[in-house]
Amino acid sequence: MRILLLGSGGREHAIAWKLVQSSKLNKLYVAPGNAGTSEIAENVDISVNDFEKIEAFVLSNQVDMIVVGPEDPLVNGVYDYFKSNKKLSHVSVIGPSKAGALLEGSKDYAKSFMNKYDIPTPKYYTVTKANLDLGLEFLSSFEGPYVLKADGLAAGKGVLIIEDLSEAQSSLEEMINGKFGNASSKVVIEGFLRGIELSVFALTDGKNYKIIGSAKDYKRIGEGDTGLNTGGMGAVSPVPFADEEFMQKVEDRIVRPTVEGLQKEGIDYKGFIFFGLFKVEEDPYIIEYNVRMGDPETEVVMPRIKTDLVELFESVSDEKLGESDFELDSKYCTTVMLVSGGYPEQYEKGKEITNTKDVEDSIVFHAGTKMENDKLVSAGGRVIALSSYGDSMEEALKKSYISANKINFEGKYFRNDIGNDLK
Ligand code: GLY
Repeated sequence: MRILLLGSGGREHAIAWKLVQSSKLNKLYVAPGNAGTSEIAENVDISVNDFEKIEAFVLSNQVDMIVVGPEDPLVNGVYDYFKSNKKLSHVSVIGPSKAGALLEGSKDYAKSFMNKYDIPTPKYYTVTKANLDLGLEFLSSFEGPYVLKADGLAAGKGVLIIEDLSEAQSSLEEMINGKFGNASSKVVIEGFLRGIELSVFALTDGKNYKIIGSAKDYKRIGEGDTGLNTGGMGAVSPVPFADEEFMQKVEDRIVRPTVEGLQKEGIDYKGFIFFGLFKVEEDPYIIEYNVRMGDPETEVVMPRIKTDLVELFESVSDEKLGESDFELDSKYCTTVMLVSGGYPEQYEKGKEITNTKDVEDSIVFHAGTKMENDKLVSAGGRVIALSSYGDSMEEALKKSYISANKINFEGKYFRNDIGNDLK
C-alpha cells in the first residue's frame, strides 16, 4: 500500500508513526509534513488544499490511499474531488465527503443534525443579520455564561464564552458584522453546560464504527486552565472519569445515533469522528463534532492503538470495519506540548531545537518544526509533543515532564499541570 498523508502537525506525525509500523505499508508520503515526518516518511512540498497538485502527485507516484489529517481540505471537498474523478476512483480517501464534513464546517448544521437524531446537546439559536434582533433578545432570555460559535471554520478561534450579557450582545453584533470574516456571518448561540469536558474518537466506514479512545485536552495557555485558548497544550488518554458505564452511554446516546444519522442522510463518511463532549453529573452531552482527529489528542490516542492502522483504513475503505478486530492498550498515554514563547499571540520562529535525541522514555512527536541548514528549528506555535506510556496516568506524566525538561529552544514554554485535575 502506497499512502499519501495530508497535514503537517503533531497529529500527522503521530498518524505517520503508527502507519509506518504496518507491514502492509510500502511507501508513505506526507504533504507537506514536518521535520519529524521527514525522518520516517518522504515529505512532499504540496499544500493540503491544492487538489490539482495532489492529483498529479497521486497519479505519478501510484498512490493507493490518501489519509486526510486536518479539516480544511475535507470541508473543501477533497473526498468528493477524488471520488468524482474517473482516473482517481481507485484511490481510497480516509476522511468524510464534503456533506459529512459539514458536521464541523457548519455549527448550525451540526446542531440541527444532533436535534434531528435526538443526540443530547444544549439548546441553541442560530443568528444571521436578518434575525440579529431576535438573537439579542434570545441572549437576554437566560442567564450566562453565553456561548457564541461562529458557524464556519475560524482556525479554532471562533468560540467565545462570555459571562456578561451586554458584552455577549455586543460580541454577537461584532461576529455577525465580520469579526471572523464570513465564518461568523452566521452565529450559533448555545446554552452553557456545567460539567467536565472530554473527547471521544471513532473511526467509521459510514455503517460500522469502532470507538478508538477517549482523551482529555488542555486548551488554555496558562496553568489552572487560564488565559487564551490554544490548539491544545497537552492531553491524557484514557480519561479516568470516563468509566465503562459512562462510555456505554456515550456509545448508545451519541456515537451510534450519529453514525445511523449519517446513513439515514445518505452521507458518505469514511474517516474519523471527534465527539467533543461534556460529562454533566453522570450523563454525556455533545457540544461539537470535528471530522478529523484532535491535536494533541492524536498524540495520546495513536500510541494506544494496537491494531494495524493500514488494515483498519483498508476495512474502512471496503466498508468492512464491522468485521475487523480492534485492540487498545490498557496503559495510559499522556502528552505535554512544548510551545514557542508568546504563543498563541505573537511568537518567533526559527529557534534551534536541541537535545531531542536525549529523550529516552517518550515519543517525540514534532508539530511546528523544520530542518534549516541541517539544524532542527521551530516553525510554529506548537513545536513538539512528548508522549509517554504508564501503568498509571501519574507514571506517564512523570516521563513526559522529564522529556519536556530535556529538550531546549529559546522561549520554550509548557504547562506544568497537565492531568492535575484528574489525579
Ligand atoms: N485539540 C483540539 C482540537 O484538535 O480541535
